[in-house]
Amino acid sequence: LQNNNVENEPVLAYRAGSRERAELADELKRTAAVTEEIPIVIGGQTIKDGEPQYQVMPHDHSRKIAKFYYASEKTIQKAIEASVEAQVRWDRTPLNERIRIWQNAAELMAGAHRQKLNAATMLGQSKTVVQAEIDSAAELIDFFRFNVFFLKENAKYQPISENPTVTRNSLRFRGIDGFIAAISPFNFTAIGGNLAYTPALMGNGVVWKPSDTALLSNWRIFNIMREAGLPDGIVNFVPADGPTFGRVITTSPFLAGINFTGSVPTFNWLWNEVGKNLNLYRNYPRLIGECGGKNYHFVHPSADVATVVNASIRSAFEYCGQKCSACSRIYIPKSLYEPIKEGLLAERAKLKIGDPTDFSVFTAAVIDDKAFARITGYINGAKKNPKNKILGGGEFDGSKGYFVQPTIIETSDPHDKLMTEEIFGPVLTMYVYDDHDVMKTLALVGSSTKFALTGAVFSKDVNFLQIALEELKMTAGNFYINDKSTGSVVGQQPFGGGRMSGTNDKAGGPNYVMRWTSPQSIKETF
Ligand code: ALA
Repeated sequence: LQNNNVENEPVLAYRAGSRERAELADELKRTAAVTEEIPIVIGGQTIKDGEPQYQVMPHDHSRKIAKFYYASEKTIQKAIEASVEAQVRWDRTPLNERIRIWQNAAELMAGAHRQKLNAATMLGQSKTVVQAEIDSAAELIDFFRFNVFFLKENAKYQPISENPTVTRNSLRFRGIDGFIAAISPFNFTAIGGNLAYTPALMGNGVVWKPSDTALLSNWRIFNIMREAGLPDGIVNFVPADGPTFGRVITTSPFLAGINFTGSVPTFNWLWNEVGKNLNLYRNYPRLIGECGGKNYHFVHPSADVATVVNASIRSAFEYCGQKCSACSRIYIPKSLYEPIKEGLLAERAKLKIGDPTDFSVFTAAVIDDKAFARITGYINGAKKNPKNKILGGGEFDGSKGYFVQPTIIETSDPHDKLMTEEIFGPVLTMYVYDDHDVMKTLALVGSSTKFALTGAVFSKDVNFLQIALEELKMTAGNFYINDKSTGSVVGQQPFGGGRMSGTNDKAGGPNYVMRWTSPQSIKETF
């Protein structure tokens, strides 16, 4: 294996008059003009099964951006067979050859196809240009480059051979014997790329169920991988109804792993099914999941107000609070209540909400009708509850697109569901604590919810920060000091949470690739 060096992909600025802006504008027009027909692809064969489904633009839901088909049980079975068959050959393909395909793909994503990925993400998932660029460009490319880098780094370790003239020890990375089911979410195009293709890089066959609401961008990744040279059958593209897909994969004897990002109930269901069917399998399936969060900002009386305000607005409201890492609860000391509240409300009032293809917009629509109903349900509930007060926002309109105004609520109850349940929308709830109760309030952060994905603490007091690092240790897999709880970067802040937020296998970190290999130790005696 060759020398390693790797850097994060630069994030482009899309200034008025820039080349990238002109290219993106063209691509947005091209993408918006058609309803792209997306087939199921199994072993290189395209299939159109069953009733057609549509992906609509969340900000203008009368417009269909993609037409696709749900795979039937039989078709999902076929995909499993194709991936099990393709894996045998693939796992024997030298690592360097596999790596070259990933490098080719990263170059295509960074160059020729960058704006195709961004346009699909902006129109299909309602991301602004800034949010698309950090996702379907930078993070996606980083996953591909860094996973190759981490693979090479991990491969450098070879066991000691005490007497190399007599024996030699080595370790080789094999794929896992069977297939991996990748089930990816809508909120990051990059996560789809990582969930489906990292197991493939490591020598596995994959059956990929992309999210219905991220279909076009995920389809574009699939095609880039084909163009980069990935042989047919290694990753099979299988949009499907969730429960049907779950049932078929968990009752297949070939199940070798599930790479999942989504909700806690779905992951729990999958885990239970796997448990029930253990005797059926020839492996213990690897279950890797990133689930929900109830991410927090904790403000100490020594915090810098402007930093808290800026970080909280961005963390809570960028991409309508639909990042798994988004802050949705903030603990504020009484002594800073007025300036922080005023700051948050003033900044909130400036946010421009609208069509994501308008480059001046801050956020667009939430993903679909279900999300709209869930989020507005929480807001309506808050309006009726005397313990809660809507300070800003609270309006919504789903007639053309699924628009929910960024909403700030104050609650007097730190155990209210606004402070404990995942809303996954642009709703920030604040709880004001008495300055004397810092320690008591710190304890509430971890005890009031089962989630532990991301969290941030704001303080200029070094002693307090030391205390917070210990007291909040188990409350977040990604912990930030004086910075927002979102925006982890591949290779810089490996991402994942503990407790019921997931198995914390740290996407974008060195150990992630190792979860997708079944290494073999070889002792050779001469
Ligand atoms: N990596 C994404 C973030 O940290 C989820 O915001």
